[in-house]
Amino acid sequence: MSSEPRNAVIFDLDGVLTDTAHFHFIAWQKIAHQVGVEFGEAENEALKGIDRMRSLEMILSRSDMTFTDAEVFALAEQKNTHYQSLIAEMTPDDVFPGVNTLIQGLKAEGFGLGVASVSKNAEFVLTRIGLLDEFEFVADAAKIKNTKPDPEIFLTVASALSVPPEQCIGIEDSQAGVTAIKAANMPAIGVGSADTLTQADTIVARTGDITPALITQWLNK
Ligand code: BG6
Ligand code: MG
Repeated sequence: MSSEPRNAVIFDLDGVLTDTAHFHFIAWQKIAHQVGVEFGEAENEALKGIDRMRSLEMILSRSDMTFTDAEVFALAEQKNTHYQSLIAEMTPDDVFPGVNTLIQGLKAEGFGLGVASVSKNAEFVLTRIGLLDEFEFVADAAKIKNTKPDPEIFLTVASALSVPPEQCIGIEDSQAGVTAIKAANMPAIGVGSADTLTQADTIVARTGDITPALITQWLNK
């Protein structure tokens, strides 16, 4: 007897399940100002979904200062130490409204659930906010060679869930992430603004606005 392969939903973490995108912003802004680089919401948007070292390279490329490899490494460490101090006291109350309901609804309908975050702090954050055990697979950022917008992390999660990419849907708040989802041949739900997430198939203002019905609709297109 043959059965249809199931569908899967692959979530980004930072800015999708909880507001850690704001903590990354605060920590990157401090580094940027230290090296004489303007860093507001627009500059931050371009860094969302990009891994730590590549994000730092992007900031330093706009600085008039020069840096040794050791100095670059120290700046990355400094950013991460600051970020970790900001996430240290997170609790389940920090999960975005409606996310737990969405997860339970998707589970009830048999969807596979995974997380595709290039953050090396993803497991810590998921543990703090009480969501780690809700997902069948959480990508290990240390094993991902190519940061978003490369599709590698979404394809890795799809493969780990044993669901073909075309039966998966991705949820992202970043331009780089939406591009990665599309490059993985999946429909993309963007969380945020249509002006920013131009490649997304559909946009919601908040993750909690997503329903299993919306996901099914896009998977069946
Ligand atoms: C992504 C964030 O999820 O993780 C980026 O959108 C962040 O802003 C990146 O730089 C890497 O995170 P970390 O925790 O490994 O420095
Ligand atoms: Mg994100």
